[in-house]
Amino acid sequence: MITTKDLCKVFRTEEVETSALRDVNLHIQRGEFAAIMGPSGCGKSTLLNIIGLLDNPSNGNYIFNNTDVTEKSEKQRTHFRKGNIGFIFQSFNLIDELTVFENVELPLIYMGLATSKRKAKVNEVLERMNISHRAKHYPQQLSGGQQQRVAIARAVVTNPKLILADELLVTLIRAMVLK
Ligand SMILES: Nc1ncnc2c1ncn2[C@@H]1O[C@H](COP(=O)(O)OP(=O)(O)O)[C@@H](O)[C@H]1O
Ligand SMILES: [Mg+2]
Repeated sequence: MITTKDLCKVFRTEEVETSALRDVNLHIQRGEFAAIMGPSGCGKSTLLNIIGLLDNPSNGNYIFNNTDVTEKSEKQRTHFRKGNIGFIFQSFNLIDELTVFENVELPLIYMGLATSKRKAKVNEVLERMNISHRAKHYPQQLSGGQQQRVAIARAVVTNPKLILADELLVTLIRAMVLK
């Protein structure tokens, strides 16, 4: 499902040049669960951002579901992300001004789903994540573990083909401690 070929990423500023990824070749099949491990600063988030189509590689190719997405335009990438990729960010990235329900509903609005269908899907996933009783709350009114469940709900509500979670282990431990 995912293939990367000699993926490279170099961050350039006026003073420094950081090579974050060098020739990353990986192949992940449908249904597979893969963990990317390594010390802080080794390039995990950079790789996830590229796989999640949030960033471009400096070199190499990224093939998702037989489509080479490396050269796609920003608009095409955004379109491709919808329904294909669910991203659970390290800091959750929930929108403070929106309720739990509205946060989870957002990807479905982007997908153009009708209100009644959105409502059913959001309620179902909130139920599944055990957070329905907080649907009308705002992110700041939740514990870290609850916020994470909302972030997971938002990532899976569209039934994406690929779910990416940055610092999964760290957030899982946090969730267990803060629940
Ligand atoms: N936007 C950026 N600009 C410059 N350097 C960056 C940027 N993002 C990451 N880096 C550098 O790339 C390297 C890999 O970072 P990152 O992918 O965040 O590591 P990890 O997630 O494994 O901790 C680090 O040396 C970091 O300083
Ligand atoms: Mg990281």
